[in-house]
Amino acid sequence: MASANGKAKASSTAPAVNGTAYKVVDHTYDVIVVGAGGAGLRATLGCAEAGLKTACITKVFPTRSHTVAAQGGVAASLGNMGPDNWRWHMFDTVKGSDWLGDQDSIEYLCRNAPAAVYELEHYGVPFSRTEDGKIYQRPFGGMTTEFGEGPPAQRTCAAADRTGHAMLHTLYGQSLRYSAEFFIEYFALDLMMDQDGACRGVVAMCLDDGAIHRFRAKRTILATGGYGRAYFSCTSAHTCTGDGNAMVLRAGLPLQDMEFVQFHPTGIYGAGVLITEGARGEGGYLTNSKGERFMERYAPHAKDLASRDVVSRSMTIEIREGRGVGAENDHIYLHLDHLDPKILAERLPGITENAKVFAGVDLRRQPIPVLPTVHYNMGGIPTNYHGEVLTRKGDDPDAIVPGLMAIGEAACVSVHGANRLGSNSLIDLVVFGRAAALRCAATIEKNTAQPDLPKSADALALSRLDKFRFAKGGTPTAALRLKMQKIMQTNCAVFRDGPVLKEGVEKISKVWQESADINVTDRSLIWNSDLIETLEFDNLISQAAVTVVGAEARQESRGAHAREDFPKRDDVKWMKHTLAFADDRKKTVTLDDRPVHKNTLTNEISYIEPKARVY
Ligand code: FUM
Repeated sequence: MASANGKAKASSTAPAVNGTAYKVVDHTYDVIVVGAGGAGLRATLGCAEAGLKTACITKVFPTRSHTVAAQGGVAASLGNMGPDNWRWHMFDTVKGSDWLGDQDSIEYLCRNAPAAVYELEHYGVPFSRTEDGKIYQRPFGGMTTEFGEGPPAQRTCAAADRTGHAMLHTLYGQSLRYSAEFFIEYFALDLMMDQDGACRGVVAMCLDDGAIHRFRAKRTILATGGYGRAYFSCTSAHTCTGDGNAMVLRAGLPLQDMEFVQFHPTGIYGAGVLITEGARGEGGYLTNSKGERFMERYAPHAKDLASRDVVSRSMTIEIREGRGVGAENDHIYLHLDHLDPKILAERLPGITENAKVFAGVDLRRQPIPVLPTVHYNMGGIPTNYHGEVLTRKGDDPDAIVPGLMAIGEAACVSVHGANRLGSNSLIDLVVFGRAAALRCAATIEKNTAQPDLPKSADALALSRLDKFRFAKGGTPTAALRLKMQKIMQTNCAVFRDGPVLKEGVEKISKVWQESADINVTDRSLIWNSDLIETLEFDNLISQAAVTVVGAEARQESRGAHAREDFPKRDDVKWMKHTLAFADDRKKTVTLDDRPVHKNTLTNEISYIEPKARVY
């Protein structure tokens, strides 16, 4: 029976798969957003504000989403601290992306950034202020003026060093102003796709009681974040397992540019906890065991504020060449001890506390031990700048997947290309969260019936759930996860080369095969963290596989992908996006590609031609 939005709410029982029958609850919405970080909340509130029947599903309480950990700020050319212009922001972003970013999307991002930040201000984000009451902006890596020819830009709008925290709480509060519904502590299992390849919604499990919920929707927006936890040392929360990305792979759709993994230069040594780039924006600097400010050698102009890939590589070279600090010469010092304690207290209170708790140092007097640490995934679900998911269909590399959208770190729009500039992530969340909501408002007919779900809509979700719930192998999930994380850390790192990547491909493939031998001990349905961690591991391993396979295949160096055996960027062969498909049954990866968009959105700026990327 077809039903109108939000009206149908039936309860039934799914047939027993492994001796268990699952209680099934059906829901119908115009829009389902999966994930309640910055992007998910901005899309949720935009859709609800537009009068669309909207629900947001999230595996953690919204204000515990990983956006809460974002520190330094959100980029927008407000020009509060000196001249600025969205075109300069666009130039920096294209250059930062090492010319792998789609220039139409980058124009959309940079042009809409100032309005998005003012919107946040009006929503209530408590930005830090200048003396005359304007939003305070700090310098961040790779952000310049005059198309790279002028001095550094102060473009990163900050709420001290807790900008993500401030944004997330504000956006959640705003979402509650409208009639969006939240399904909190629901774990999304799989997409419901129909025979025409359209997405018809998503299946989720309520963590509280194990009930299965089928959310039927005209649009499903994935805002499920990155998959940093595929690595051993990362700044990402334990929840960052790329659940949406993995659902897309299981639906037979590709992920894009997964080989581009960002290492943040300043994760706390040993703990991985983030020390914001804003620390260097406020005047912090890095030193080696000789006390040298070595960034002066690698990036004579931008120095410690070169882009993240450049700084991470420079630190790694210093350590490799024996100039690391500490008993094992295996890390670097970040100095803030020369800064006015008043500045530290006002602008960097969060990292002052983190340095104390996680490194045991008083940063007013001592340097912080730091190391490049996995921080962000440039790759993800390919989309256009409206947030619509794309796939290759025959000759069409930009075919839209009906019903499915993706935003935030889960998506690859692609504005960050091969390397993201710091503070371009938070702006990506709100600009494209808003864009997705606008697209939904423009294309969804309200209060119209939706066709019935295909009969087997939940088959994939339930059979996978059941397979892991009753898994009786000999290997605990935690053992496989640790193996995967260590392989990724060693074989797909800051510097890469052919033989190490080849070994990585083989080892990750073996771990993927070994998941057939997984052992889950808890069979219950109430807060079964053993089961959820296993489903998360299963999500991570397919993403680890497409990452390392893509990295081995890309025989060039571009942005965060630094091949020692192919040290140069190769625009002739490799200025293209990687598309990676995974076969979950055979545990294999297939690669394809799609062209980088060289067109801009308007004629107010022309294509930014590739050139050597020096800072
Ligand atoms: O360093 C930072 O505060 C992180 C910002 C970002 O990744 O955009």
